Amino acid sequence: MKPTKKHRKRYRLKPSVFRFLVYATFIIGLSIYAYIGISNAIKEIKYHETYEYKLTSLGYSMADTQKLISILKPERIEEILNEEQYNEMYHNIINQKYFIDHNFEDYVTYKISHSDDSYEDTIAIVNVHANNGWYNVEYESNIDDGYLVLVNKFYHLNKDYKRIDLENANLAYAYADNKAATIVLENFEQMRDYVYNNLNVKLMINSSYRSYEDQESIYNDYKNVSLKYADQYAARPGYSEHQTGLSLDITSWEHPGQKAFTESEEYKWLKDNAHKYGFILRYPEGKENITGYSTESWHFRYVGKEVATQIYNEGITFDEYYAYYIAK
Ligand code: DAL
Ligand code: ZN
Repeated sequence: MKPTKKHRKRYRLKPSVFRFLVYATFIIGLSIYAYIGISNAIKEIKYHETYEYKLTSLGYSMADTQKLISILKPERIEEILNEEQYNEMYHNIINQKYFIDHNFEDYVTYKISHSDDSYEDTIAIVNVHANNGWYNVEYESNIDDGYLVLVNKFYHLNKDYKRIDLENANLAYAYADNKAATIVLENFEQMRDYVYNNLNVKLMINSSYRSYEDQESIYNDYKNVSLKYADQYAARPGYSEHQTGLSLDITSWEHPGQKAFTESEEYKWLKDNAHKYGFILRYPEGKENITGYSTESWHFRYVGKEVATQIYNEGITFDEYYAYYIAK
């Protein structure tokens, strides 16, 4: 069959209409282009007025800038901007592991007046309140923290505070008149069994729970030598961890003297393993500026296995742990 031809009617734009459409398109395009350009310029001008722009222009990284903006009031940021140059101290402070936002100003003040102290020490000292000087600020220990209660040169217990679950320690592993919380004695017994079976040494409890009055008498004995000496080795009454019933002064039957015990294998073992039984060495060497006490190889504190392990792994004191993980 022969194909039929389809005739389509063709529309043609009049040249005047065509010209109009071309101009209109051009004008609309130009307007959009100008609009985008102007708004970008406005945005840019506005951005230059932000703290983000100003701080990054001084050399602070975007991460530091955002941190500073999030923790500081505008007046404080203005002060930093008025320094007119990058200050590495701020960078070092806000990037410390145990940095706590609300302590920012105290870190800065402390670091400026103790430039020889490391940033790590600055953070730790301020976190535990030691920047105020020993016993210069006081807080009540929060006994609701249970076996994580903090008692140190800033946190104290009431004169009458006494745990209700104090138990007499077995005379097989404690000198006379020793009492401690049940959980402490249970864990000490397990640790003692392990040490006896593996190191063939008998761990002993030398001192444990002490009442306010017991501590007062100990502290006064030390004070008869000198105040400095007393504060180096003994807590003032109300400020001793021994009143919590959670601390043990440990020695061994084989090495009862302080020096012999400090040099013994059992002490080395305790230092690196006591956390498995929930105990931490409470006043470690090199942390005197944080704990306020000379190192004590005998004083162990029960905090439970999980926390003790974390404290051991992170190499921090209980004071630092409490400030960062509990009080913050
Ligand atoms: N020796 C420790 C610090 C006390 O007296 O509690
Ligand atoms: Zn002690």
